[in-house]
Amino acid sequence: MSNIFLDNFIINNNEAVLNMESTATFLGISTATVRNWVKCGHLQSFDENAKDFFYKKDVENIKSRILSGDLEKMNKRANKAGAEKTFLPNEYIEDRDSFEELNFIVDFIKDNNIIIFPALLLVSLNLLKKEGILSKISIEDIIQKKDLSFSNKQIKEEIKSWISEIKEGEIKKEFAFLLDCNIPKQRDILGFLYQSLLLEGRKAQSGSYYTPAEIVNEIVADYVKKNSKVLDPCCGTGQFLLAFSDNIENPANIYGIDFDEIAVRIARLNILIKFKNKDFAPNIVCKNTLFEIGNYDLFSLNDENIKDFDVVATNPPWGVHFSKEDSKKLKIIYPEILSLESFSYFLKKSLDLLRGGGVSSFILPESILNVKVHKDIREIILKNSQIKKVVYLDRVFKNVFTPVVRLDFKKNKVSNNKILICKGNEHHSVEQMRWLNNQDFVFDIHASEFDTEIIERIYKTNYITLKNNADWALGIVTGNNKEFIIDNPQDGFEPIFKGKEVGRFALDNPSSYIRFVPEKFQQVAPIERYRAKEKLIYRFISKYLFFTYDNKQKLTLNSANIVIPKIPNYSAKVIATLFNSSPYQFIFQKKFSSIKVLRNHIEQMPLPLWDKKTFSEIIKMVDEIIGGNDNFVKLDNYIMNKFSFSEKEKDYINKFNK
Ligand SMILES: C[S@@+](CC[C@H](N)C(=O)[O-])C[C@H]1O[C@@H](n2cnc3c(N)ncnc32)[C@H](O)[C@@H]1O
Repeated sequence: MSNIFLDNFIINNNEAVLNMESTATFLGISTATVRNWVKCGHLQSFDENAKDFFYKKDVENIKSRILSGDLEKMNKRANKAGAEKTFLPNEYIEDRDSFEELNFIVDFIKDNNIIIFPALLLVSLNLLKKEGILSKISIEDIIQKKDLSFSNKQIKEEIKSWISEIKEGEIKKEFAFLLDCNIPKQRDILGFLYQSLLLEGRKAQSGSYYTPAEIVNEIVADYVKKNSKVLDPCCGTGQFLLAFSDNIENPANIYGIDFDEIAVRIARLNILIKFKNKDFAPNIVCKNTLFEIGNYDLFSLNDENIKDFDVVATNPPWGVHFSKEDSKKLKIIYPEILSLESFSYFLKKSLDLLRGGGVSSFILPESILNVKVHKDIREIILKNSQIKKVVYLDRVFKNVFTPVVRLDFKKNKVSNNKILICKGNEHHSVEQMRWLNNQDFVFDIHASEFDTEIIERIYKTNYITLKNNADWALGIVTGNNKEFIIDNPQDGFEPIFKGKEVGRFALDNPSSYIRFVPEKFQQVAPIERYRAKEKLIYRFISKYLFFTYDNKQKLTLNSANIVIPKIPNYSAKVIATLFNSSPYQFIFQKKFSSIKVLRNHIEQMPLPLWDKKTFSEIIKMVDEIIGGNDNFVKLDNYIMNKFSFSEKEKDYINKFNK
């Protein structure tokens, strides 16, 4: 068997690792969903020659959690890519009564096996009748493709073109219900129906989850004026376009693009109905925004008007899996986007299409803020725009379990800008400069200015870090716990600790024992790391830092990782003290707001270069704690006092940690 030595752990090349495609196949999901799960932290990948790989045990673990019903939401997602499933996006409709009526229509369409496009045509005609745009009509008129009489010339043309697409036999007499049923008065009913009828797999593949009205309305209220020229570059059925039109007088100023032909037809009809007394052709086109819009010599259709927007607002597709051919093109057109992430291309494109001083507002997954792979687009935004606002929206879309944020930015460079952060009713502001100076340009929205002052005070001391000053190891993955692990001690077995058994300074009693046969395990670090004379063990999946000092060469499972500090005259006991202390919990949560304690986080934590006396006082207290004295509060206060916080700051840190 061959082994790859990667960073600080060994991977069994023959069995332990799966690539992206086999992971997706094994889980029955698309590779886009796998990528999404990585972004959301459900699965961990690692990079080898710029390709993503996964530990088989992680993938198997997720699979068993799905099968056990533990991850019901994920399960739904897992079924999506391949399954013939649809669902009603109830976040798209505000009124419960309307929802039930619409549900009835959807059921009728499904029960009668009506193809989506003819079904939508019939409902559209019904809608036009209710709007007084179309006079009397019967199902026979449509079947026989009779000339219909409309009060609006452009709508007549649109519908004529829809009807010309219908094939013989696709509309039957029994479908007359759709022409006459009650249709509730709600924005974008047709879009709701389209979403409800689209297969989940298809929606997931093209990232087609339309945005609830209240979110869109707030964006429009913030930026769209009577004469603004506005664009949704991936408009779907036109939720944003309809909201724009609440404020805009001239429909010629409203632009929409989408590569989904049915969505574009609906969006055009929606806008025509909204301005039913005007004679105009909507500026809504069926094109691929990333390849066909703009001034790229190679692929451009050079549409003269699609530029210089006052507002570009949208919810772009996230995590789309591009074909090989498209990926190649994208790399040529957008060389600065290394992540191959669809929302990043749309963000870059929107910056290109705005006029100087124009504003963009995007609905995005929270991962844009801090996941390393998105540092490319964060840098572009920070260096080319003034970020106006980040709104933390939490979960928005049924069946998409990622927290969502709204990101607003204005196209122009500024040196001094304050960004407004909104989370429910809480607001605070942060300096854009801080994000520019952050490692990987992280948008740490959870730290206010006061928080930053506190963090900066800690970083003002002379310090060193563990970066390049430590050895690291992941806990053991046996590959077959039944074979190697038991619950009670027995001859030939030794304790092995899980993350939840890692406390501050001490390990809890073990609940597992292992026969240590590293050559048989699936993932194991070099043995000398577990057996180091002194090491620190820390919880891996945790919102808080838990570090234990260990000089007894204990083993850990993969929920507990290991760091062996190598800074001369800097005791591991002092490092454990710092990381366990209240100020460092504060740094960790405010700066990284992560549920995983990553090596990269730990490497950014400052280790102050205090004098010998301080170190020996700390070590003495740690020894007392290890010896069984409950001295943690005393030690914590000692560390607090070392940073000369004001009383107000101390109070604030203490309250935060409670
Ligand atoms: C998340 S939906 C959002 C629709 C609409 N903006 C909204 O917020 O309700 C994303 C849309 O992007 C479209 N889309 C994806 N890739 C595209 C591309 N390369 N060019 C144009 N449209 C695209 C999909 O068809 C889908 O309608």
